[in-house]
Amino acid sequence: MLVLGLETSCDETGVALYDSERGLLADALFSQIDLHRVYGGVVPELASRDHVKRMLPLIRQVLSEADCVATDIDAIAYTAGPGLVGALLVGASCAQALAFAWDIPALGVHHMEGHLLAPMLEEQPPAFPFVALLVSGGHTQLVRVDGIGQYQLLGESLDDAAGEAFDKTAKLMGLQYPGGPEIARLALSGTLGRFKFPRPMTDRPGLEFSFSGLKTFTLNTWQQCQAAGDKSEQTRCDIALAFQQAVVDTLTIKCKRALKQTGLNNLVIAGGVSANQALRQSLEKMLGELKGEVFYARPAFCTDNGAMIAYAGCQRLLAGQHEDLSIKVQARWPMEQLPAL
Ligand code: KG4
Ligand code: ZN
Repeated sequence: MLVLGLETSCDETGVALYDSERGLLADALFSQIDLHRVYGGVVPELASRDHVKRMLPLIRQVLSEADCVATDIDAIAYTAGPGLVGALLVGASCAQALAFAWDIPALGVHHMEGHLLAPMLEEQPPAFPFVALLVSGGHTQLVRVDGIGQYQLLGESLDDAAGEAFDKTAKLMGLQYPGGPEIARLALSGTLGRFKFPRPMTDRPGLEFSFSGLKTFTLNTWQQCQAAGDKSEQTRCDIALAFQQAVVDTLTIKCKRALKQTGLNNLVIAGGVSANQALRQSLEKMLGELKGEVFYARPAFCTDNGAMIAYAGCQRLLAGQHEDLSIKVQARWPMEQLPAL
């Protein structure tokens, strides 16, 4: 089955062609980062309008790269939520219009299920069951995964998502959007141990997260340094490292707890923050001690992309899932509501 995947939940237009027999045939992405950077974050209306502009040229591009024509496509998978409603509507209406014109099925995919399954596109995919840490701009969740659609939420953030914490903290320190990669870059030149930041909610049992206090702690440290006349780039790098270490340690402690609680020793990390090298290294070290394994997607498939949507949609379409031609998207959509395959 050849599936066209469309991703438009936020500020990236992603399009891909995935074939159930041959694997991923083509994948193209247009990132709107430059468009939103001047505003310090995503402007929803600008995002929607830009998706409209990019979608059809990207579809033509993947068809050409995969040496396919429209009539080869068997079905269309698109992101139906969670995300920005206007942006989601662009992908949904485009998918449904093409599906109607080409007389093929279309299926709405859950964005976080797309992220969760993205490591399946790699050479050594994880086998069920496993614990998944989903860390994106909108979500921080620990999930027990027994199969596609068999998701048990173990814990999540009570306030900011990990990616959101990176983005907001970076903004407070005068860095560009998106802040995650910026903080990671500065942290490489940071001095280990100069600042010690708290590891929120690790001193009590449970698998919940909270990152908003850490953001305030970082702001206070930054302002104290500035007030004392220390405006050096080195200090910015040292604070970036201390912040990143605090997030990484906190995520690692909670992942270890989740693995212990479930008795599992395979961990999948997915979503934009799973591209973070320090996080990967820390989790690999922890899993090494537990004689387990950590799985993640290539960096381009950690952040938003069309390939993960094409893959997730393909699995559900192969299992016979289908929907009518109505255009339905959801800004909020708990992943546990998805049907099991
Ligand atoms: O999954 P994603 O592309 O979009 C959402 O579904 O939200 O995640 C984007 C988030 C942003 O907050 C971005 O700052 C963060 O992922 N991010 C990173 C890194 N690359 C992207 N955070 C930390 N380190 C990175 N290398
Ligand atoms: Zn995402």
